[in-house]
Amino acid sequence: MKDVSVNGNRLWQSLMDMGRIGGTEKGGCCRLTLTHLDKEARDLFVRWCEEAGCTVSVDEVGNIFARRSGRNNDLPPIMTGSHLDTQPTGGKFDGVFGALAGVEVLRTLQDHNIETEAPVEMVVWTNEEGARFAPAMMGSGVFAGRLSLEEILAKVDVEGKIFGDELKRIGYAGQLPARARPIGAFFEAHIEQGPYLEHENKTIGVVTKGQGQRWYDIVITGFESHAGTTPMPLRRDALVAAARLIAQVELIARENQPHACGTVGFLQVHPNSRNTIPGKVTLSVDLRHPEDAILSKMDEELKTFCEKLNGDAWTVEVDPFWYYAPFPFDEECIKVIREGAQHHGYSHMDIFAGAGHDACYIADIAPTGMIFVPCEKGISHNEIESAKLSDLAAGCNVLLWAMLSRAGA
Ligand code: GLV
Ligand code: MN
Ligand code: MN
Repeated sequence: MKDVSVNGNRLWQSLMDMGRIGGTEKGGCCRLTLTHLDKEARDLFVRWCEEAGCTVSVDEVGNIFARRSGRNNDLPPIMTGSHLDTQPTGGKFDGVFGALAGVEVLRTLQDHNIETEAPVEMVVWTNEEGARFAPAMMGSGVFAGRLSLEEILAKVDVEGKIFGDELKRIGYAGQLPARARPIGAFFEAHIEQGPYLEHENKTIGVVTKGQGQRWYDIVITGFESHAGTTPMPLRRDALVAAARLIAQVELIARENQPHACGTVGFLQVHPNSRNTIPGKVTLSVDLRHPEDAILSKMDEELKTFCEKLNGDAWTVEVDPFWYYAPFPFDEECIKVIREGAQHHGYSHMDIFAGAGHDACYIADIAPTGMIFVPCEKGISHNEIESAKLSDLAAGCNVLLWAMLSRAGA
């Protein structure tokens, strides 16, 4: 039974069809969470799952579950899925591959009339990216009980739009309680988004752990004044402080190699006028490391620098609003993914996840594993993100293997 294979061409075609929703000129995707484009993508996913015989339900945070019955529906489902939202300069594969690999598994089960012992479920988690509403991985975080539903529904984007209102507007504020229930196992397939698989010439990444992340909102307040008349010693330029902070974030990451990452990706300058000295800057900081002790050290280094900046010229307020500890994936799930790669004769290696993934939250409440495939030059969160059909099909075959192993066929 486990000798069946997925249809790589069909998977590719589905990725291309989905990629047209929010498709950009450079061949990528801009499909921010809870926009009308997100709704269109969700509607297409739901249609595909219903056509393949699933019953679809939506929970209070907008997570979509498509269930295919098993022989014994009292057993907890074997689940797979990922996300359909993208970064503003996103690609066609980040998240979407995992969601549509689930659809391809489903279609393959239909093609071969395979009945599983346990039910299987394909899921799309809401707002994995955290680009429009922060933090990331919201749908899976609420489901796993790590984030509060009320707080998430009240989140506001840069335009002042409220998450809960936007969810209702696109028709995905569901009835199902957004909380954990028994899950037999959860598998997420994803492009690697980094360079290691390609560099090592391996087809499958067996993901052993997700690295830790800390996200901050920082507000620096100085004083607006005239660019031509305020002598340099009298200035309190908030953007100058921000520039020093940005350089420090880079330094902290460079001094904690290997693996440390530090990024300032969001900056708002007030009043953002070329001849007024900036009085206020709001910025984001994203620190990551696979070892919690080093991530804590980086956190201390950032806070110490912010305390030093905070003084006569500027006030610096730091809100460390999101912390995600490194988390190992389940030994049995790791094993079954490795077996799947070996069974199909795919080269493979162990790897850790540098990006945040919904699987990292689901690992709290269910045995969880992740399957990576290479992406071109390791580039992601960029419109030119690309992956090979043969690698995507390989990842999907390993997913099918893992799901059938756990669901029983
Ligand atoms: C999500 O893609 C993240 O890792 O930030
Ligand atoms: Mn992703
Ligand atoms: Mn992403």
